[in-house]
Amino acid sequence: MPKKFAIIAVDRIRLGDDQLRRRLRDGVNRFSRFGKAKAAAWNQFATHLHYQQGDFKKPQTYAALGAQCDRLEKEWGTKAHRIFYMATPPSMFGEIPKYLGRAGLARDREWTRIVIEKPIGYDLESALALNAILAASFEESQIFRIDHYLGKETVQNILAFRFANPLFEPIWNRRYVDYVTITVAEDVGVEHRGGYYDRAGALRDMVQNHLMQLLCLVAMEPMVSFDADEIRNKKVDVLHAVRPIHRDAVHKSAVRGQYGRARTGGEKVKGYREEDGVAPDSQTETFAALKLFLDNWRWQGVPFYLRTGKRLPRQVSEISIQFRAVPHQSFPPEASLGWQPSRLVMSIQPDEGIVLGFQAKYPGPKMQLRPVDMRFSYRESFAAPSPDAYETLLWDVMKNDATLFMRADQVEAAWRLLMPVLEVWKTTPPSDFPNYAAGTWGPEDTQGLLAQQGHRWPLPAELLDHSNRKRKNS
Ligand code: BG6
Repeated sequence: MPKKFAIIAVDRIRLGDDQLRRRLRDGVNRFSRFGKAKAAAWNQFATHLHYQQGDFKKPQTYAALGAQCDRLEKEWGTKAHRIFYMATPPSMFGEIPKYLGRAGLARDREWTRIVIEKPIGYDLESALALNAILAASFEESQIFRIDHYLGKETVQNILAFRFANPLFEPIWNRRYVDYVTITVAEDVGVEHRGGYYDRAGALRDMVQNHLMQLLCLVAMEPMVSFDADEIRNKKVDVLHAVRPIHRDAVHKSAVRGQYGRARTGGEKVKGYREEDGVAPDSQTETFAALKLFLDNWRWQGVPFYLRTGKRLPRQVSEISIQFRAVPHQSFPPEASLGWQPSRLVMSIQPDEGIVLGFQAKYPGPKMQLRPVDMRFSYRESFAAPSPDAYETLLWDVMKNDATLFMRADQVEAAWRLLMPVLEVWKTTPPSDFPNYAAGTWGPEDTQGLLAQQGHRWPLPAELLDHSNRKRKNS
């Protein structure tokens, strides 16, 4: 952090600077990856933290905030960047920018920024409305829409991998790629967020943002430069290329699921409908899978399968590029019993790295082919630990670098794409919920989505579990 800065927390509740500092310190002690706060460093940092009591819907709050900023600038003898971070319930997203605008706090285009996190709207209409409210007070260049997936190292590495190496880009297209799967699986349930989640569901909570970002990065054309808008243009192009899902074909392109209670690992796991804050007859999906096609030269005919869900067997996020089979199989049939087409897996989390699977000759007098893997692991290759996504993103806001943030048109394009699915799911309630047991890979129909094309969901790659693999191979 620079020498001169202030963090001013604004909220309705009565709190003093000291109480705020204590709360934040407790948070750091509990959650920081660097462990507990060191007294000297914390005490120094804490002097920059201030609390201001105020109602978000009262102009006085903003007048007072502006006055405090002016006071600090005077004290520092310099003009300061002002970043308004809406760490509030989404219901306030449409209010705060209006008040900031009216108070004149958004006027300075160069020195003022606003940060907003998903959910950016509840559907296309509300997203358009929210973006319009933001645009009424702020220019697009001042608006930083966070999707924390973009802050993850492994997600940023997709661009590095694809465009910093001459090796893969020539085969990154319909001639060599058979299909692509994007999996973002969580083993946790809805935890303490049942109230929010029951209104959202997996499509809104994960697909509209995180999975769409992954799709854009994996399918986009090479950028001309590392300019924020250049990259974002290329990403939006992907969403524009996605073949629209027609309402009457939703059942062929999308699958939804909800977890039911189960016993996993000797433990009883609640069904979704039994979770706190969830309606006992809830129709909300905790699992969603989509099959998408991109109508462009690079990807014509290549299916992109996306899936995400809660209470799946394990936490794993990965993108798998399944390559086509060789054009002619010259080995005798008995040589290639365990034969598998090559595949490349980008492991986003919890393992971080890349696995390339291909065929090799099994040692011995006979020609026998066996699948083997080549692995790159962040942990093994780099001594530096990966920063938390939010560290990267907050720093980028301060640096005024919008590369890793969502632009209005991208958010809207993603909503536009999903609207037919959301509408059909809303008007045709599921008859079979809960339709997957906690701890399984989602409803059975999910397999059908791929089976139509003769494809299947890959097993998650094992990036680090070498001992296990060695045992299997022997
Ligand atoms: C959030 C969703 O955006 O992302 C949560 O609202 C989800 O439901 C979370 O659990 C997953 O983030 P991560 O970084 O843990 O993969």
